[in-house]
Parts: sequence; C-alpha cells; structure tokens
Amino acid sequence: MSDYHISDASLAPGGKLRIDWAEEEMPVLRQLKARFEKEQPLKGMRISACLHVTTETANLMATLQAGGADVVICASNPLSTQDDVAASLVVNYEIPVYAIKGEDKTTYFSHIEAALNHKPHLTMDDGADLVSELHKNRRELLEHVVGGTEETTTGVIRLRAMAADKALMFPVVAVNDSATKHMFDNRYGTGQSTIDGIVRATNILLAGRTVVVAGYGWCGRGIANRARGMGAQVVVTEIDPIKALEALMDGFTIMPMEAAARIGDIFVTATGDVNVIDKHHFEVMKNGALVSNSGHFNVEINIPALEQMSQGKPKQVRPFVDQFLLKDGRKINLLGEGRLINLAAAEGHPASVMDMSFANQALGAEFIFKNGKSLEKRVYALPESVDREIARLKLAAMGVKIDTLTAEQEAYLNQWQEGT
Ligand code: ADE
Repeated sequence: MSDYHISDASLAPGGKLRIDWAEEEMPVLRQLKARFEKEQPLKGMRISACLHVTTETANLMATLQAGGADVVICASNPLSTQDDVAASLVVNYEIPVYAIKGEDKTTYFSHIEAALNHKPHLTMDDGADLVSELHKNRRELLEHVVGGTEETTTGVIRLRAMAADKALMFPVVAVNDSATKHMFDNRYGTGQSTIDGIVRATNILLAGRTVVVAGYGWCGRGIANRARGMGAQVVVTEIDPIKALEALMDGFTIMPMEAAARIGDIFVTATGDVNVIDKHHFEVMKNGALVSNSGHFNVEINIPALEQMSQGKPKQVRPFVDQFLLKDGRKINLLGEGRLINLAAAEGHPASVMDMSFANQALGAEFIFKNGKSLEKRVYALPESVDREIARLKLAAMGVKIDTLTAEQEAYLNQWQEGT
C-alpha cells in the first residue's frame, strides 16, 4: 500500500467485527458484491471516495474492491470518522484511508488532497468537497476522470449549481435522486440516527419536551416524526409554504423560528442553509436549550454569533456537548460542534437503510464506468429500473412479497376509453 493517515492501526480487530456486523444488515449490497466478484465490472477503475468512514461505508468499499476497482477513501466530515473502521480498512482490506475523527480543517483538506493524488477515474462524494477541490485546485487531474457519484442532497445542490454555471467537467450520478435513497436514508435513517445522536450526547428524556425541527424536507420529516414518537411536542419551522402545509396536516405545530426559539428545549436544523438559528434566536432562547444540526455542513447554526454573545470559551460538559455561558447568565448547549449530530455523537444511519443507499452508489459507479464517456457533463439520476430493482431486492431480503398486476389490470391501465 502506498500510504494512509489514520488514528491507530491497532483498532483494526474491533473495526472488522463491527464491519461484519453491519454487513449482516446489508443484503442488497451483499448480492451486488457477489455479482461484482464474478463480473469484475469496475476492473481497472481508480476510485477516490470522500465519504463518512463508517462500518456501512467499509462494506461499500469492499464491494467496489470486489468489482475490480482500486479504491482510496478520505473523510467527508471532520467528526464522522469511526477510527476503528479506518484502521480495519487499512489492515484487513488494504484500502488506503485518510481520515481521523476530530481532524482539523487543514488536515481534512490535506486528506482530500491525498485521496485526489490517486488520480481517480471516478469520484465518489458525500457533500461534493472532493469534486469542488478537484475543479478549484487540481484541474490537472480532470483528464483522468470519467465521472462521479454524489450521495447527499447538499452535494447534489452544489453540483447542479456547478452544471448551471457550466463549471462541471464530468457527468455525476446523483444517488440522492433515487427514491430508494432519499425516501429511506434521509427520512428513516436521519430520523432515527439524529434522535440517537442527541440522546447519546445528552441522555435527555424527549417525552414532554418541545423539539423544534427546522426544515421539513425528507430529513426534517423523519426527525419530526421520530421525536413525536418519543413523546416530544414537535414544532416545525419552514420557508416553503407547501412543506409547511404538509407538516401542519401531518399534525405538527408550525411557526417562524423567531417564535419557536422562545419555547424550544431541543433544536435540530435540517435545512441545508446558513444561519437558520441566528443571534436573535439565541437572544430569546430558554436557559439550558440544546442546539444541534443534522444538515451536511456546520453552517446552519450561527456559532460565531454564539461565541460573541458568550463569556469566555465554552465548557465541554460532556463529550459532544459544549456549554456557552451567555453574558446575561443563560446557558446554551451546542451539540457536536454544530456538525451532523447523527454521525458526530452516534454512528450515522443504521446499516439496513445504508444498504439501499450504497447499492445505489455501487450501481452508480458501474453506470458511470459503462456509460461515462458518452454522457454529458451534468447531473444524472440512475434509471428508474435500477431504483425498482433495489426496492425489489430489499423486499425479497426482508421476506416481504407483493402483488403483481393481472393481465386485465395491465390492459385497464393502458386504455383510455373505459371510465364511469
Ligand atoms: N450518512 C449517514 N449515515 C451514514 C453511515 N452510517 N455511513 C455512511 N454515511 C452515512
């Protein structure tokens, strides 16, 4: 192996056990791995991945490697790396990893550089930092790249902005656009793992508390519903009238953040935008409020404003809980440095849901390798047939059978003459 940068290689045995545990919950990816082993669809392909280094991601890396790819990986967030997994990928899978939990910004970007030094044919991103860095500072590498895949909503938005600016220099598959990704990973995965992160960080009882969820996209929907399931009073804030109406009719209380800031006990942002919780919101928050983020970047909470409003430096009162003492004596608790709390304080989405997301990633890589040279330099969704096949395989693995249309029903759907 050329090189790697991880926290501690001796953590590998524990990491391997956890990777194997996750694999049990990833039947769709397992089937793809078996096919990839036989067919070698990625033979000769160099892949640089910038993903959260978790047990689930390790299983994706093993699948790509089984398909013949030469893979390296760096972290897609400074706080999401599971150091035992990073160690196991290096020791047990001989995959170079550049990721250390808690790395600073300089190290984070040096790891992206290291992954790019692999001269990828395919980029695999979660948040588009790898693609962005490649286009901004490593343009000499563009000639090798056939295409990329992108995991998350935020990354897809960035890539569409690049394509609109004619700045994107290769085709990218938006994994997030697949229904088997966003309807499940974003909703059930983020829903459960965000609550898990908040509870692991604070050990707080949610029942009877007011939880404010900013944003009612797929992630916000998941978080709001899971928080309600734990007995919390849930308030949703939105800027989109349709989503606000949907949240209202789903039974949530809707109000502007200005009002919600006064009554919330626990705040979670899931909007993908900046300063959703701002200085004027901190000014009216209750003493002891818990503030967290589940969006991709740590921009949704105005942390510099919170720092300015505080006396001295925050006190770390528990792992992943920084307590800010405001000049008026109130305390505000910031969880996970405002980074995605589900990966900072917990383990991210459970393997069963990442199974579908990463099946989309693996098939996205195959799609790019097969078709990349004939594709335009824009963002593509995977074909609907791929999405349906992933859902079919997942249902089969879960032992769930469904009906099929009869010939009569099929014919009925294809005619227009028969009505009332
Ligand atoms: N994003 C959210 N949860 C994740 C996980 N468990 N692994 C990789 N990426 C994730």
